[in-house]
Amino acid sequence: MNIILLGPPGAGKGTQAKRLEKKFELVHLSTGDMLRAVVASGSDFGTKLKGIMEAGQLISDDIMIQMIEERIGQPDCEKGFILDGFPRTIPQAEALDEMLSSNQISLDYVVKMDVDEEDLVRRIVGRFSCAKCGAGYHDKFSPPVKEGVCDSCGNVEFVRRPDDNEETVRARFDAYRKQTEPILPYYKSKNILKTIDGMGSIDDVTAQIQQIIV
Ligand code: AP5
Repeated sequence: MNIILLGPPGAGKGTQAKRLEKKFELVHLSTGDMLRAVVASGSDFGTKLKGIMEAGQLISDDIMIQMIEERIGQPDCEKGFILDGFPRTIPQAEALDEMLSSNQISLDYVVKMDVDEEDLVRRIVGRFSCAKCGAGYHDKFSPPVKEGVCDSCGNVEFVRRPDDNEETVRARFDAYRKQTEPILPYYKSKNILKTIDGMGSIDDVTAQIQQIIV
């Protein structure tokens, strides 16, 4: 099974992808995480990417298409994947179609998660993750069970993304509206686009997705 999770920044794509990855044994392909790994390497290329990401803008299509093509070609993706953060533009959607059809891979579902802009800002500004294992939390909506201690690995250090501030979130949302929303009719015309209400609890959103994909 191959799925795309679509939605504005903070819609819950990463949160839901991690759950689906476990339940259905799929590979979670987050282009945001891939880019952050390049930034963390400290290379000149990473420094360039960092500036673009912290301005809330999109990285160029050629870089993103090459990155995802290399990743999808790896053997672990044969068991199925969840794309989180890709495609984000029409050229990316078209390139994905080409790379999938030339490898006889089908795309089963494109799930779009709808959430109000003000809720997205609240979600993102409160988000943090474990510095060791990457488990994700939110100050208000999903804090660790024991304050200051990661539920998954017991670590006590946490990090916040540099692009998780209100100004950048609004720029990211703007990029979503202008560059990503135009790909929706493309998937609608292929009859694989499903829209869910992303405003419910995390469990409620998982239940909605599972109803679609099972
Ligand atoms: P990326 O990392 O993909 O960021 P994003 O799309 O802005 O999405 P987020 O990761 O912020 O949100 P999410 O939808 O995964 O929500 P999450 O589950 O974390 O991209 C970052 C940057 O990289 C881009 O701005 C761009 O520069 C670049 N980039 C990446 N891909 C690119 C591409 N293809 N082309 C060009 N550039 C690209 O949830 C958010 C918070 O809300 C969490 O705290 C969570 O706990 C909480 N939460 C989740 N669900 C719920 C719920 N139902 N109720 C309450 N709280 C919830």
